[in-house]
Amino acid sequence: MRFLEIKQIAAEHLNSAVELDRLCFGGLWTLEGYRRELGSPNSDLLGLWTWETADCASEKLDSELDPFDIFSPQNRANTGAPPLQATQTLIGLGCLWAILEEAHITILAIDPRFQGRGLGQALLWALLKSACDRQLERATLEVRSSNLAAVALYEKFGFQEAGRRKRYYEDTGEDALVMWRSGMEKPDFQQYLAVEKVQICDRLRRNK
Ligand SMILES: CC(C)(COP(=O)(O)OP(=O)(O)OC[C@H]1O[C@@H](n2cnc3c(N)ncnc32)[C@H](O)[C@@H]1OP(=O)(O)O)[C@@H](O)C(=O)NCCC(=O)NCCS
Repeated sequence: MRFLEIKQIAAEHLNSAVELDRLCFGGLWTLEGYRRELGSPNSDLLGLWTWETADCASEKLDSELDPFDIFSPQNRANTGAPPLQATQTLIGLGCLWAILEEAHITILAIDPRFQGRGLGQALLWALLKSACDRQLERATLEVRSSNLAAVALYEKFGFQEAGRRKRYYEDTGEDALVMWRSGMEKPDFQQYLAVEKVQICDRLRRNK
């Protein structure tokens, strides 16, 4: 994993998004479902990309790159981002819906080959930042009660279980935990995000 970028998914990425969805969820949303997100002003659909390149001249930049500083491709010219000929692969998906003052997190997934390296938290951070930029006040999601990795990740970001939907998932009859993260409208939430960002970036650099 040489370079990382988190940015909004565009129409040309939709096939890769569906492929990754199949890999991570066994096909939760269809191509049409993802396409609908692009057209919705209340939806933030984010992707996490990695690049592989054989360009040795990029070695120095590799150690200097901050994945959050290459949030959009327009920055490419002045941040020393990877060469355009490098192969870009979509390895993470995140989505939120802004409903009134709430961020409903509907998708969070990292390609299984890249899990356990701090990328899930980078993407969740980016979703919470988007929610904060939209001036939303709290975030919520549903998660399988058996999904201990995801529950631990959400708890790490201050989500707390607020209730359960009994036998919510038809395939296994499992309960869904309903989790909430409040306090995003408070001034110290910006500070919290800034501190988390530093820690997440440090870990990503160490795990490269
Ligand atoms: C949940 C998911 C997004 C986590 O992504 P990830 O990149 O593996 O997670 P990270 O490496 O960023 O880990 C961040 C934190 O999550 C928790 N976590 C991640 N994997 C874990 C595991 N196997 N067991 C326990 N906790 C785990 C830990 O709190 C971890 O922090 P730590 O490493 O400091 O202990 C990923 O497992 C995934 O895509 N799963 C399939 C799709 C899914 O279930 N999505 C959630 C739907 S609600």
